[in-house]
Amino acid sequence: MLIVIEQLLSADEVHQFRTRLDKADWQDGLKTAGTLARAVKRNLQLEDGSALAVELGNQILRKLGNHPQFIAAALPARIYPPKFNRYEDGGTYGAHIDSALMQVPGTNVTLRSDLSATLFLSEPGEYDGGELEIEGPFGAQAVKLAAGDMVLYPSSSLHRVTPVTRGARIASFFWIESMVRDEGERALLYDLDQTIQGLTPHLAADNPHLVQLTGVYHNLLRRWAIT
Ligand code: NI
Repeated sequence: MLIVIEQLLSADEVHQFRTRLDKADWQDGLKTAGTLARAVKRNLQLEDGSALAVELGNQILRKLGNHPQFIAAALPARIYPPKFNRYEDGGTYGAHIDSALMQVPGTNVTLRSDLSATLFLSEPGEYDGGELEIEGPFGAQAVKLAAGDMVLYPSSSLHRVTPVTRGARIASFFWIESMVRDEGERALLYDLDQTIQGLTPHLAADNPHLVQLTGVYHNLLRRWAIT
């Protein structure tokens, strides 16, 4: 399931990010590519652990921590410190599946990637190409979102970034280890949560069916979550 979180960052916040990122020191993305990725990856990245990456990454993490839709969708146990990339001049990333286990730089922590996230920081009109194409059960879906919007997709899916033939595509990307590892269970919990959120404004808070449905959500979460 692909889940779009609209306007995780406001227009003002995107502007602040871009002012900093547009004059940042971008490095060749091959530095961090594994053996297979070296053949297909052509982009620029901000150095992990650089002051700017840490500061902007923490800003993203704070927004995520306060975002009910993100929490319901990802049920996050751990989030990889957000990274930043830039595609321009034909930059592309061919079809690949993200590594399953990610060591958080500078720590002994290893995180299992259950969900991959891309937060778009360029407006679609700023560049041509640069679609994030994600293979799913119903074929490939091309994702190109407004600046400030984020897509979440299963890390198990084959995906690629098509060549950027005009302008620059700037984004943040990271991975989430979920308390609910199974994608199907997580999708059911998300659907149930969104249904309850949709019903809540129409029913009294003590409506016994709403109380029961909320209980079902928590009892499923209790059954499936690993903390
Ligand atoms: Ni990837």
